Amino acid sequence: MTSPRATAPVFHNILEMIGNTPMLEITRIDTGPCKLFVKMESMNPGNSIKDRIAVTMIDAAEKSGKLKKGGRIVEATAGNTGLALALVAGQKGYRLTVVVPDKMSDEKISHLRAMGAEVVLTRSDVAKGHPEYYQDVAEKIARDDPDAFYASQFTNEANPQAHYETTGPEIWEQMDGKIDAFVAGIGSGGTVSGVGKFLKERNPNCEIILADPVGSILTPLVNEGKKVQPGSWLVEGIGEDFVPSICHLELVKKAYAISDEEAFHTARELLKKEGVLAGSSVGTLFAAALRYCREQKEPKRVVTLICDNGAKYLSKMFNDFWMVDNGFIKRPTYGDIRDLIARRHLEREDFCLSPEIPVLQAIKRMRMFSISQMAVVDEKDRVVGILDETDVLMALVRDRDCAAKPVKDFMTSRVETVRPTASVNDLLPIFRADRVAVVADDKHFYGLITKIDLINYLRKQL
Ligand SMILES: Cc1ncc(COP(=O)(O)O)c(C=O)c1O
Repeated sequence: MTSPRATAPVFHNILEMIGNTPMLEITRIDTGPCKLFVKMESMNPGNSIKDRIAVTMIDAAEKSGKLKKGGRIVEATAGNTGLALALVAGQKGYRLTVVVPDKMSDEKISHLRAMGAEVVLTRSDVAKGHPEYYQDVAEKIARDDPDAFYASQFTNEANPQAHYETTGPEIWEQMDGKIDAFVAGIGSGGTVSGVGKFLKERNPNCEIILADPVGSILTPLVNEGKKVQPGSWLVEGIGEDFVPSICHLELVKKAYAISDEEAFHTARELLKKEGVLAGSSVGTLFAAALRYCREQKEPKRVVTLICDNGAKYLSKMFNDFWMVDNGFIKRPTYGDIRDLIARRHLEREDFCLSPEIPVLQAIKRMRMFSISQMAVVDEKDRVVGILDETDVLMALVRDRDCAAKPVKDFMTSRVETVRPTASVNDLLPIFRADRVAVVADDKHFYGLITKIDLINYLRKQL
């Protein structure tokens, strides 16, 4: 540690640990003439800024009598608000039902269930007004249950109140009242409205800057007063196709539209250079903050947020293969069939087996990396066979002692080799026979092409 720190406090309930998050100055990334600070909301116990609103929304519902002892909280979300409500509900003895559209990942649903929430899955392909639209489903569940309270973060004034009473004052104090701009995104609008109101009351010249995904309707509305049709984006938690009722957009001076690609690369840079593991939307916020800082002519003190922790993106935005597969990392191409290889052997991206490796080890590798076949290569790096799920299944059924035996006894030795100069059409008979293509020439083995690789390749051409 570089400077002495006060002794960390001891808490007696995890809810006491919400808020009072630290501020970090960015020192290893170019911020133009400005000083840029990030408030580490990812260090809340539920790992996001939404812990704050879960507390105030539940407190307000208790006070107004909408939520009674042992009652039920209902919300429509698969994001951080669901986890935050689960945290607070669990500590305060309420049941929580979250209605989740079925496009959400298994991981998120498991996380909610692990925290004790009841998850109701509904359709993600229907729009507002349809009886299976997730917000309408949540509203109906709450309406039909006399013990239920619908948290409704998009319309609940206790949401911006949380930021007006806690996030805003904390930022002001941490910056010693010297803050020229605050950069944030809009999901429900709670953060911008609550923090924005507080900062503007203290310093009317403080600029509120919106970080918005490309495709959201908010940037054209803020910058040009223009209403546009919404598009789609991958960053989670921010960007809108309507203006929520609690959102005070008039506080916002200027908006920056950031593409998914820029957001993901910026979040990766933030981790590499500053050591901050943050969620995808933080990439949007941080990219917008950097653009704002670098555009300034005068030195300014700027604050943005690390809204959530990036651990849930390790297999997506922080994974090079996911970035390549989704076109966010472009790698050198060969201009021939080698461009269809998803995991390149010469770049050590693939998982191979040596002929002597025991079958049990091969099964472990297949499970660990979720792959259904692997090339078996000899000491000269030549493919001598393929071991796929069928080979493993047959081995297990036919030979009770197969686990310790070498894979060479069970692999398929007849491999379908194609040269780099082959055409896509040459692959079709191989796939029709349910085999995989081994791309190799006299010098090298380049990698495997499977049916799904060809499907992905063709999909990207669409
Ligand atoms: C993950 C995430 N959630 C929520 C927000 C803000 O949401 P809200 O407008 O609902 O306060 C942000 C950004 O500011 C965010 O990055």
